[in-house]
Amino acid sequence: MLSGIAHKVTASAPGKLVILGEHAVVYGRPCIVTAVGQRLFVTATPIDKPVLELSAPDVGLEAYSKPFAKLGTGEVPKAAAFVEGALKTFLQHHPLRGGVRLETRSEFSSQYGFGSSSASAVCAIRALGGLIGLAMPPREVFDLSFRTVRDIQKTGSGVDVAAAVYGGTLVYEMEGRRLEALPVTPPLVVGYTGIKADTVTLLKEVAARAEREPESVEAIYIGIEALVEQGIAAIKKKDWKALGEVMNHNQALLETLGVSSAVLDALIAAARGAGATGAKLSGAGRGDCMLALAATKKHAVEGAIAKAGGHVIEVALGVDGVRLEA
Ligand code: PMV
Repeated sequence: MLSGIAHKVTASAPGKLVILGEHAVVYGRPCIVTAVGQRLFVTATPIDKPVLELSAPDVGLEAYSKPFAKLGTGEVPKAAAFVEGALKTFLQHHPLRGGVRLETRSEFSSQYGFGSSSASAVCAIRALGGLIGLAMPPREVFDLSFRTVRDIQKTGSGVDVAAAVYGGTLVYEMEGRRLEALPVTPPLVVGYTGIKADTVTLLKEVAARAEREPESVEAIYIGIEALVEQGIAAIKKKDWKALGEVMNHNQALLETLGVSSAVLDALIAAARGAGATGAKLSGAGRGDCMLALAATKKHAVEGAIAKAGGHVIEVALGVDGVRLEA
């Protein structure tokens, strides 16, 4: 229902880091994800003609435009795909009078693996809803954003979308079948490898391996699922020793799955050597970020990660999900 058009609306959403359970989550297992306190912003402004005008200077896109009737067709640059896709999905449910200008801005680099594509889809959906005065319960923002991301990527669990919508630290299962907010966020240090992971390629590689060796990959996922359940209990009790052990076991299983790398292994070893009670890669692997659990010795762990060639990213974790900005 239309209830007047706002002049200009900005929505923001956080990035994410997977604490436990990546990859297995794509095959129906639970994972734990936390929202990171660097945000992505989308500003929506109404325009007269039924056209999308898009600028995303952080990812090199300026003055892109597309008539509403052609959304999602023809050449869609990677930098436009998720916002254009979000608009297309939104319009299938909610009509807009005229068109819209969308501008994105990010506090974090799209290289970190924080889930900027999903966060941009989430923000676009929420900002478009704000433009026509929709209250939009989080579940609706999640469903529309998840559909958008799946249409484009054809794969993925939606964990990035869940973190961007709900924020906090969450237990998550595919398509939002399980969404449970955890009461505490573990004291984690974030180390960036300097290498951009290619999630879709890695997911295909893992799927190909599962075709060849279904039983051994299934055994890895069963192991990861058990670790996630132990991790949930440890987080609820703030038992950082137990959580650290769980993280280390999860890393070993990810190594067996073949998604770690020499650079990640070096940063993880350095963090453990400096007193982190646990450390593992976060996300698809081969690059992006690693996490180290450091309830004490935070500075020593940060120093060791930096000395091993990592870039320590100072971020708050467990922050708010998508919101409209004043
Ligand atoms: O977006 P990334 O690279 O942080 O990966 C997210 C976690 C995966 O399980 C590897 C993929 C997914 O969609 O769940």
